[in-house]
Amino acid sequence: MKTILITNRKGGVGKTTTSVNLSAWLGQMGYTVLIIDLDTQSHVQYGLGFAKSFKSGIHKAFETKQNLNELIHETSFKNLFLLPAVINYPINKIKQDDRQLARLIRRSRLKDTFDICIIDTPPTSDILLSNALAISDYAIVPVKTEFLGLIGVNQFLKIFYTTASKVNPKLELLGILPTMYNKSMSEHQDMIKFIEKKVGKSRVLKPIRNDIKLSISFLEGKPISYLDKRYRGSKDYEKLAKQIVKRL
Ligand SMILES: Nc1ncnc2c1ncn2[C@@H]1O[C@H](COP(=O)(O)OP(=O)(O)O)[C@@H](O)[C@H]1O
Ligand SMILES: [Mg+2]
Repeated sequence: MKTILITNRKGGVGKTTTSVNLSAWLGQMGYTVLIIDLDTQSHVQYGLGFAKSFKSGIHKAFETKQNLNELIHETSFKNLFLLPAVINYPINKIKQDDRQLARLIRRSRLKDTFDICIIDTPPTSDILLSNALAISDYAIVPVKTEFLGLIGVNQFLKIFYTTASKVNPKLELLGILPTMYNKSMSEHQDMIKFIEKKVGKSRVLKPIRNDIKLSISFLEGKPISYLDKRYRGSKDYEKLAKQIVKRL
């Protein structure tokens, strides 16, 4: 099992959209995929068509040390499974130990069941993020293609590398993922060049274009590729999935 962390300390940059739509494509490509939703806002479930809140989820398991298989739900989408969040779970109840998730995953033998695990994270750097960093092989950092989205990317990467080097020196950055990109805006093209200069061209993934259908698919409770594969957003996440599979 390869684990990919989707992270950025900013909210509204496309982390959850990326978690859901990238996972859906990986599932459609034949990989068995588990999404772990570490954000207590529990948004991933809505994108996968689960409207009601779950009785339990990953946050509770930090406390109960329950077998994670009991908490995993099959989705209506090919090869795609969800380990949900517990909505509004009080983070201060979670022990300051960054190996808890690693132990839960090992005990539940998830590595034998899933090919790929995608972790959606909250926009905070707390004990949840350290736990996720500790078990991840790779990270993707979605960044909104706008000036304010770029301010702080460098600072974020510094913190990212410092934390990562403490809990998991093997963690590899797959890349910055520009989101909500509009090719016809010269500012957006400039911003992509700006990020490429800052972090190196090989560290910038192919951008995800702006597509309102990505928001609509969330409301419909389906990944965009299950609405219509011809939508821009679907094509872009398909390209991303292919790009990533080559790198794993
Ligand atoms: N490529 C895109 N084009 C248009 N809207 C997008 C795109 N990616 C995300 N969005 C929208 O932006 C908002 C924030 O996205 P979300 O994935 O929830 O961000 P985060 O998880 O980082 O907070 C949502 O309303 C989502 O539908
Ligand atoms: Mg989110």
